[in-house]
Amino acid sequence: MSNNPHGGKLVNRELVAEGRTEALKKAESLKSITISPWAVSDLELIGIGGFSPLTGFMGKEDYENVVHNTRLASGTVWSVPITLSVTEQQANELEEGDKIALIGEDDVIYGTLTLSEKFTYDKQLEAQNIYGTTDEAHPGVKKLYDRGNVYLGGDITLLNRPDHGEFTDFYMDPSETRQMFDDLGWKTIVGFQTRNPVHRAHEYIQKCALEAVDGLLLNPLVGETKSDDIPADIRMESYQVILKNYYPADRTRLVIYPAAMRYAGPKEAILHAIVRKNYGCTHFIVGRDHAGVGDYYGTYEAQDFITQFEDELGIGIFKFEHAFYCTKCENMGTAKTCPHDKEHHVHLSGTKVRELLRNGEKPPKQFSRPEVAEVLIKGMKQS
Ligand code: ADX
Repeated sequence: MSNNPHGGKLVNRELVAEGRTEALKKAESLKSITISPWAVSDLELIGIGGFSPLTGFMGKEDYENVVHNTRLASGTVWSVPITLSVTEQQANELEEGDKIALIGEDDVIYGTLTLSEKFTYDKQLEAQNIYGTTDEAHPGVKKLYDRGNVYLGGDITLLNRPDHGEFTDFYMDPSETRQMFDDLGWKTIVGFQTRNPVHRAHEYIQKCALEAVDGLLLNPLVGETKSDDIPADIRMESYQVILKNYYPADRTRLVIYPAAMRYAGPKEAILHAIVRKNYGCTHFIVGRDHAGVGDYYGTYEAQDFITQFEDELGIGIFKFEHAFYCTKCENMGTAKTCPHDKEHHVHLSGTKVRELLRNGEKPPKQFSRPEVAEVLIKGMKQS
């Protein structure tokens, strides 16, 4: 049985059929703003219920509670602001109560916003409280600093979902994954977030979790990532290859998570868990430096932070220590299961792996499955 949605009810803010046609027609004559691909993905996730209980972009009360208390104004746990920014000039042309068409950079009307409030915010404070740093070298902070100075709050309606192109076959909305879990007879499901190819350490922690539950939802983030992350199309190919060769087909499903990556470490770990709960997962994996970047967060900071909210979150958190291959054990393990010194542990940094792949060299098979390395090498050559 799928887990309960966050806040109790799965949100659906999408119009379909005639209602949609009518609303799209009306939207053409509304005031409009052009929104970024990041905002389009947030709009989509609100619309399809991935961000339940949110029904729109956050107003001031929710925003401030999230920034200061990791909660919505209602008291429900929420860790990352979901906001829509505009410049002051744009904001001056909009009035509270307006219905506004939200148009993508590709000129598609993705939805509408009923503007309930516009408010200014403190970027440094948001950076510090959400990302733990005000350093603009942090990719999430940089995005925040580049945004307009006013947030628009209000309920949304989703009128067009973004085109997920070659990933469409792997796209499901939360109501569909829930139905799928029920149809499969899975009572316990572990969700796995990733923005990387699945390496042996990922495989190890996924399979440790899979020993304890009925099914694994491999749920890679395919929205905006920083430019040196491996592109989603290459990763998607690598996921299919590893699943086909090394995972039981009846206990794993691959579904995309169409969100942008914030790199907000501990705060994003909570957001990731909440979304997977909405997709129906009963468990979620948080490993080492979850959603981290550079040295901004401690190795287990995300785990320690999420632990504080675990009783309220309503999704079980599987926490794993740093996993590696040990040449003495001839096995994967962590400090909890392997007694040997570090010199016996195969460890490669992301930078090192990318360098090897770009040179057409396979990382050792203790680090990456050869079939996965092949896909990555081919993909990196073409990109
Ligand atoms: S993330 O930004 O999406 O978190 P990544 O795709 O690398 O990055 O990680 C996916 C999940 O695997 C996260 O929960 C992360 O903590 C975990 N993880 C990644 N590498 C390891 C490792 N070597 N040992 C334990 N957990 C890991």
